[in-house]
This record gives sequence, C-alpha cells and structure tokens, in this order.
Amino acid sequence: MNITVAGMGYVGLSLAVLLARHDHVTVTDIIPEKVDMLNRGVSPIRDEYIERYLKEAAEGKRSLDLKAVTGGAKAYAGADIVVAAVPTNYDPSRDHFDCSAVEAVIEQALRDAPDAYIVIRSTVPVGYTASVRERYGSGRILFSPEFLRESKALYDNLYPGRIIVGCDGGTRAAAETFACLLKKAALKDNVDTLFMGFTEAEAVKLFANTYLALRVGFFNELDTYAEVNGLDSRAIIEGVGLDPRIGPHYNNPSFGYGGYCLPKDTRQLLANYAGIPQRIIAAAVESNEVRMDHVAEEAARLCRKAAEKDFHGKEPVAGIFRLAMKSGSDNFRESAVLHVADRLRKDGIRVIVYEPSAADGSVVCGCTVVNDLAEFKRLSCCILANRYDHLLDDVKDKVYTRDIFNRD
Ligand SMILES: NC(=O)c1ccc[n+]([C@@H]2O[C@H](COP(=O)([O-])OP(=O)(O)OC[C@H]3O[C@@H](n4cnc5c(N)ncnc54)[C@H](O)[C@@H]3O)[C@@H](O)[C@H]2O)c1
Repeated sequence: MNITVAGMGYVGLSLAVLLARHDHVTVTDIIPEKVDMLNRGVSPIRDEYIERYLKEAAEGKRSLDLKAVTGGAKAYAGADIVVAAVPTNYDPSRDHFDCSAVEAVIEQALRDAPDAYIVIRSTVPVGYTASVRERYGSGRILFSPEFLRESKALYDNLYPGRIIVGCDGGTRAAAETFACLLKKAALKDNVDTLFMGFTEAEAVKLFANTYLALRVGFFNELDTYAEVNGLDSRAIIEGVGLDPRIGPHYNNPSFGYGGYCLPKDTRQLLANYAGIPQRIIAAAVESNEVRMDHVAEEAARLCRKAAEKDFHGKEPVAGIFRLAMKSGSDNFRESAVLHVADRLRKDGIRVIVYEPSAADGSVVCGCTVVNDLAEFKRLSCCILANRYDHLLDDVKDKVYTRDIFNRD
C-alpha cells in the first residue's frame, strides 16, 4: 500500500511511523524544518517511542519505509490512501473548528491522487465528513478518529484501545482495509474495532473527550471543595474511586484540563448541540474556567501573603514550575497553567516561569523564563506546580500544587 499522511504532528507522525512498519509511507508537512528533521532520523516532536523507532531505523536496527516531503504533487501522487492529520483549531469568532487545513488536504488529494481514499484523522465537527463528501462530490472520503495521548502517541497506536472507522456502504471495504492496516502494524492482538456512520464516528470522538474533560472537572471541583473546607482531598478521592463503577484512575486534581484537544473539543461539542437541551456539556467547558479562577485566586492570596511576610512587602512574584500539563512533556499548548498565569498577571502579580524547553530569558505569554532553578526559587514568593516534582523538595513550603498523588 502507498500511504500519504498529511501533517507531522502527534497524530500524523505517530500514524506514519506505525504504518511504515509494513507499508510504504510518505509523510508531508508545510513546515520544511519538520520534514528535514524527519529525513535526518530526528523526531520533530517529543515522544519516547517515535524517537526510539526513528533512531533504530537510522542505525539500521529497524525497518521503516518512511520518507518525508514538503507539500506538492509529489507528496500525493500514487497514494492509495491519503490521511489528513492536520490541525482543526477552534475558532471562537465562528464558534466552530477551523477545518481549512483538512480541506486543503482533501483538495490536493482529489487533484493529485484522484483514485485514493481520503481518511480524515483530524478531529472534526459532528456532520463534517458528510458535508465535505457532498461539497466535493466525492464518495471516497472517510473519517477515523484518533484517541492517542500526547507524549505517548506512537505507543497508543501500537497498543490501541479501539479502532473506529466511519463509513457507508460504498466505503465499507476501504474502511476495513484501513482498519486492517492499523491492526497489522499494532503490537496488540484483538483490538476492538467498530464500523459505523461517519457522523456517529465524529460524535464518538467529541463525546469521549468531553467525558474525559467532565471527569477531570469533577475531581477538580471535589478538590476545590476539600481545599476550601480544609478536608483531605486524597482520602475523599480514594474512597470515591473504590466504587468499581467509578474506579481509581484519571482522578488526580490539577489546575484545570488543558492540552490541544480537551478545551477545543468540548467547545466544539457544545456548539454542535445548538439548541438541543443540555446542561452537562456546557458545564464541562464552564467548570474548567471556574477551576482556573479558583486556583489563580488562591495562588494570588498565597503569593501576596508570602511577599508581605518573607519578602518584606516587596512586589509579589509567582513562579510557575513547568508549563507542560504532564510530567515528561515539552508541549504546553493550551496549558491550564498558562491560563492561571494570565489571570495572576491581570491581578497585578508578576509571573516568572521555570521551563527548560523554552529559552532562558525569553518571554512566554508575558512571563519571563528563568531556567536557573536556584534563582527561580529565590525570586518566587510562591511556586505553582501543576505536577509536583522532587526538584522542589527544598522549597516545599512555598509550593502551591493540587497534585495530591505525587506531592508526598
Ligand atoms: N494531539 C492529540 O493528542 C490529538 C489526539 C487525537 C486527535 N487529535 C486531532 O488531530 C488533529 C491534529 O492534531 P496534532 O496534535 O497532530 O496537531 P499538530 O498541530 O501537532 O500537527 C499538525 C501538523 O499539520 C501540519 N499542517 C498544517 N496544514 C497542513 C497541510 N495543508 N498539509 C500538511 N501538513 C499541514 C502542521 O504544520 C503541523 O505540523 C487535530 O484535529 C486534533 O484535534 C489530536
């Protein structure tokens, strides 16, 4: 099979490396630096498995049939399947995802690979695939949602939780072929595989992410309640989670949910409701804002108190320890910590950041990066850590975190 994957982000690159284990894959991106890096065997994103697979391929220890090219006809010509794995950012002015990058891929594929099936892997609004099939007069467009976690992107493709392909009678065979390609390249047997309508498959993706956002929001609000009332949040969460219907997972409080997908996908699902009765979907969006407001207010209070007491009334400075949402990640797109930092700055608190993946002295979203850890600790009246790290052990009494499972 000749497969072209458009987009070298988490979704496109992990899929390209996965499929290149057994098939011929061309991956393309509009950013030439990413293409150059991949052709040198270097991953443009941080992901343990992708980095390892590319390194092993460069050393001749692993076979990957993968090449990267910048756009144009050469990227698409001869493809049997074209996969669109490009951004669909939420556009607040239109209350919808901006799917123009997906459309650019579809148009190019229809032009340069007219016989190829086009699989949309990007997350799209409910009803989108049916609408583009009609708009482009093409019966060869399918949708298959991606469920990976950032920084575990290839791992989650090697060991998928499920495979879902949206299709109709005319694309059922192509959908089965695509599912077979995914399963052939995976390292897990017996992957649950569902075929359903395009629109149902789109809904699965948005409802799954909104459920995850709700779960994060639920445990965060439980934690706000415990914090305000001086209760042991961990004890309550452990007790709640022992009910097997709830489970002891995905329950560690944070400053809010963030990352590329949950904030935009919840908003998109809410927009899709458009007049249909609901409360919970809106709450998934609103709860996160309320949580970040609460965290910022509490941090500002602690910061001012510390400035008064330990810094002799000097200007309050809040230190943000890492911008990434997860330990081990260098990705801070839509990080809740950045939103908290923004609120603190509006409240008159100076904010500095310790973030080794950003240049020392640079300014990220209005916050100066201080990567000399000792200096960062010295300057900060209060240190905000969405995820606790033992590097902070010596200044534990000025750390504000809600990471109840890692802080002790
Ligand atoms: N990141 C995740 O965890 C995740 C999980 C599931 C689904 N998704 C969805 O998958 C899509 C992609 O997400 P991502 O995290 O990989 O995005 P990303 O921003 O990391 O990567 C997208 C890549 O596409 C490239 N690109 C843009 N326009 C292009 C074009 N016309 N041709 C070729 N390349 C182009 C960009 O330069 C970028 O490198 C989004 O719709 C997202 O919602 C993401």
